[in-house]
Amino acid sequence: MQATEILMSEHRVIERVIAALESAANQLDEGQPLRPGFFLDAADFIQGFADGCHHRKEEGVLFKMLGDHGLPAQGGPVGVMLAEHAQARQITAVLRSAAQSLEAGDASARPDVTRSARAYAALLRQHILKEDTILFPAADRVIPAELHAAVLDGFEHVEHEETGEGVHEKYLALAQSLEVEAGLG
Ligand SMILES: [Fe+2]
Repeated sequence: MQATEILMSEHRVIERVIAALESAANQLDEGQPLRPGFFLDAADFIQGFADGCHHRKEEGVLFKMLGDHGLPAQGGPVGVMLAEHAQARQITAVLRSAAQSLEAGDASARPDVTRSARAYAALLRQHILKEDTILFPAADRVIPAELHAAVLDGFEHVEHEETGEGVHEKYLALAQSLEVEAGLG
């Protein structure tokens, strides 16, 4: 598999959780019964998988390689992607804190939970679209074929040394259970 194909397959998992988040936000608005810890688990997924397994591969490996081949991190499409990753982290922090309050029984945290869940979903959906249709095709063009193995090695390093053995699989299972719980599985 090409490096960008690996990242795109991770995008598909993130999109499933985004859909679950939006569905759960709607259920919360409608006053339907929903486990209060749902949004905390979703924040765990975002932090561990979307920002951990996935953004770490992009920022630590792919974007660095792009920087060596004419697409620097300052300005341009990579700069935009990095800024959106930072924005996603801020929204996740708000979501986590509101979800903690909600889980502790503070119903007034509900609008912050639904607002941040929807904001995260909207940000990531358009972010993923830009990567899939603009940045990754550009990466496939500018990174020389003989360096593809180095990118894949970098991804392996992220999974095994930085993220940790078995963590990726743990989050895939969490994505599945969030989807089921939100009524989408
Ligand atoms: Fe991505």
